Amino acid sequence: MKKDQLNELLYQALETELGGVEIYTTALRCVVNDDLKEEWQEYLEQTKNHVQIVQDTMEQLGLDTEAETPGRLVVRHIGESLVKAMEMALESGVKGAAQLVASEAVTLAETKDHLNWHLIGEAAKKAIGDIAKALKAAHDEVEDEEDEHLYHTTGWTRVLWIESMGLPAVLPPPEEVKDVKTAIGAARAEQARAQML
Ligand SMILES: [Fe+2]
Repeated sequence: MKKDQLNELLYQALETELGGVEIYTTALRCVVNDDLKEEWQEYLEQTKNHVQIVQDTMEQLGLDTEAETPGRLVVRHIGESLVKAMEMALESGVKGAAQLVASEAVTLAETKDHLNWHLIGEAAKKAIGDIAKALKAAHDEVEDEEDEHLYHTTGWTRVLWIESMGLPAVLPPPEEVKDVKTAIGAARAEQARAQML
């Protein structure tokens, strides 16, 4: 395994989690639905914990968590852009619209976050010694939460859009009701809902 690129992944993972804290904080200013608000409050706390977990893991690997990499700057730029997008929607004054923008922003951010952790899991399988141990411990602690963040928020974005168009919508989304934690589970939940309508 190329160690430099594993390190790059960890820098990007840290920046994604740091951006996630800002994104959830801003998304909570946009949210209207009470169930979604409760969910994002929980995910914000979990994301703060993920920041700590990545920092601890990087320190175990001897990495300077403050160091900048070009890839990390790109991740930061995207995170800041998502925050800006939500602020633009808030300024428009249409509350439901800002919630939709926020839900899409969270989904985009969690897509990258989910990918990072999947790759950390893959690296943990191939790494050896203390590096393997550190990566695996972090991955085990975070993986289930990341699955939930991505699949549940994707479901919310879809049903909020459906509702906004005046179409029959089931809230909260089936991904949440069925506590989906896999891509296959998300597809099944959506299919079951479509058959109900
Ligand atoms: Fe996370």
